[in-house]
Amino acid sequence: MPSKGPRTVYACQSCGHQSRKWLGKCPDCGEWNSFAEERERAAAKEGAGANRAGLRLRESKPIPFGEIEAQDDSREVTGIEEFDRVLGGGIVPGSLVLIGGEPGIGKSTLLSQVADKLSALYGSVLYVSGEESERQIKLRGERLSINPQGLFLLSETNLERIFDEINKLQPQAIIIDSVQTVFSEKLESAPGSVSQVREVAGQFLLLAKNLNTPVFLIGHVTKEGTIAGPKALEHIVDTVLYFEGERHHNHRILRAAKNRFGAANELGIFEMTGAGLIGVPNPSEVFLSERPVGASGSAVIAAMEGTRPMLVEIQALVSSSKFGTGRRTTQGVEINRVALLVAMLEKRVGFHLSGDDIFVNLVGGIALDEPAVDLGIVAAVTSSFRNIPINEHTIVFGEVGLAGEIRATSQAAVRLREAARMGFKRVVLPKNNLSGLPQDDRLEVIGVRSVSDALDALF
Ligand code: TYD
Ligand code: MG
Repeated sequence: MPSKGPRTVYACQSCGHQSRKWLGKCPDCGEWNSFAEERERAAAKEGAGANRAGLRLRESKPIPFGEIEAQDDSREVTGIEEFDRVLGGGIVPGSLVLIGGEPGIGKSTLLSQVADKLSALYGSVLYVSGEESERQIKLRGERLSINPQGLFLLSETNLERIFDEINKLQPQAIIIDSVQTVFSEKLESAPGSVSQVREVAGQFLLLAKNLNTPVFLIGHVTKEGTIAGPKALEHIVDTVLYFEGERHHNHRILRAAKNRFGAANELGIFEMTGAGLIGVPNPSEVFLSERPVGASGSAVIAAMEGTRPMLVEIQALVSSSKFGTGRRTTQGVEINRVALLVAMLEKRVGFHLSGDDIFVNLVGGIALDEPAVDLGIVAAVTSSFRNIPINEHTIVFGEVGLAGEIRATSQAAVRLREAARMGFKRVVLPKNNLSGLPQDDRLEVIGVRSVSDALDALF
């Protein structure tokens, strides 16, 4: 018999999976202790198609393919280059963008700067804050020395009220700081719960598409289950950007994790200064600025992040373990990849590493998962193991296979150009990449087929 009134369900606050019973572990995403009680939404009272937040919807009709405007030429450029690049070359009107990151990383700072530029270029921008008062935002703005004409601040958390103001103001862009603080009156669950966060995101998606206005949602990511993680939103929004970095470093990395309008692996690099975030147009310089010269265990690789080459230092430390079996610890590279490469070194080159602790770090707080990093890991580990430094003007890249073979990587010419620009003299790279490479007198290029060839060329 169906019961009357709202029914209770339990929802995973990490991914949104629902269950009638409380569960200790989410069967969907595997998170522990993530279930919270929520009231199930009563059936919508309004007629079908009506928008719960009171937005007037445009009626949709089939459109001939040829008459659909391509969106790419209408991107709005903010002039903050690192930001535009990550979005795929600017903001697509009508897109819903989620910017996730830990508290204090600089999300509000970044979006204030974006709002400033947008209001100067395109007209009114509405910045809705549920976390800070208008005065706090104003104080931050003064610190950033922004003076926007068309920027409107709204301290509000009620979704329906926010929509009223949007209908009145008709802004050219909307920023919601943060999605976890906004709640819809139509739902009974608490702000920040997964059903509220999804409802809010869903309503903003409709709004963005109907008004053809870009909407930016800021979302906090924490380890605790109390705040719905942006993971639950990833499939609703068009673009997901993560703002990362270590609190103790000034560098911040903006990474596209999903992008319906561009490549999903673009990076933007910023530096947090006393006057806000400043783009870093030349990341190689930053990542190599504190490189130890003549130290063993350090290798420089030419990596690609999206369309941009980037020279990064890999450091390895191999030290004998006190416990007989060695640990592997990594930062910025995948631990399983390191374990695999170490096993390959044991089998193919004959190193004895199983009793050693091995630490591998990517310097600068950045993380890379492209296969061309492999040869850099092998070089750094070998350099530390043998205690021989790699020549400071040498750079490596290449994918390493299980048989110890070196496989070709993409965009070798772009990587070489960056190495030459940064003053490197020698490149060890996959032999299969040699054909078709443009000549560059500044570089000695050494193609290698196997790990032992590579180690001969390096040491
Ligand atoms: P904020 O943008 O408030 O972070 P989030 O919205 O992600 O929680 O920024 C937090 C930190 O940034 C705070 O510790 C102060 C620092 N900061 C600067 O270093 N320089 C600046 O110009 C600003 C505005 C903030
Ligand atoms: Mg903030």
